Amino acid sequence: MTSGYIGIFDSGFGGLTILDGIRQRMPEYDYIYLGDNARAPYGTRSFDVVYEFTLQAVKKLFEMDCPLVILGCNTASAKALRSIQQKYLPQYAPNRRVLGVIRPTAEVVGELSHTKHIGVLATEGTIKSESYKLEIEKLHPDCTIVGQACPMWVPLVENNEFDKPGADYFVKDSLTKLMSQDPLIDTIILGCTHYPLLLPKIKQQLAQLSTLNPQLPTPQIIPQGQYIASSLEDYLRRHPEMDERLTRGGTCQYLTTESATKFRECASLFLNEEVEAQHITLN
Ligand code: DGL
Repeated sequence: MTSGYIGIFDSGFGGLTILDGIRQRMPEYDYIYLGDNARAPYGTRSFDVVYEFTLQAVKKLFEMDCPLVILGCNTASAKALRSIQQKYLPQYAPNRRVLGVIRPTAEVVGELSHTKHIGVLATEGTIKSESYKLEIEKLHPDCTIVGQACPMWVPLVENNEFDKPGADYFVKDSLTKLMSQDPLIDTIILGCTHYPLLLPKIKQQLAQLSTLNPQLPTPQIIPQGQYIASSLEDYLRRHPEMDERLTRGGTCQYLTTESATKFRECASLFLNEEVEAQHITLN
């Protein structure tokens, strides 16, 4: 039988939080994770550049026998997914599928909020694209959505500073800006796959901010991994023709455009286990 992997792509390490959520739920499948670490972060790059880089990664994963690729990166999902789905796939790869992380998150969030005031924390690119706002408003017209870009959060994570005291300032700053836009927010989406590593600091700072408005509930935080995993499971149930093409050996390979040694060292922070990586180039 030929191999059929689920490919998961991110600009760097962030997508490992998505991979982790998916593998916890569906450990039997075979996975290939590709991090474009050499060119991360994508958050401030233009639409054209994010599209070009993401397409290169998708093509590489197709070459490596992935009939299905998940863009485990909000920035790539916001800026490249639609063009790949509508322009590239029909012409060049009609039997392959590429899915993103924004829609599955938008689907669940409307039901989770009581005040129907939702905050989105993400990279500058994702916030400027307004993808979350548009998706959530379409699915849950009763919701009000505000977004806040957190330009320092990805560098804090990629540089392994996310649990250091210096990170507190930047976490507090972005949360204060978000909550001052709309104090009725009761649900916050972590719309960047790097952010779950900052979760302890985010919770701590939110609890402190909440003491300023004790009459309002402390907002709940929505990390994406578990929702992407259940959405993928549901997708495969609805698409048995795709599910049949995926092999089940329980394996996971890691590819990086940076040094394999560096990837191995940092990936363990996200996965709590040691992994071997292979260096590749994208073009
Ligand atoms: N982890 C990616 C995301 O979810 C972005 C990080 C970056 O800026 O490259 O948006």
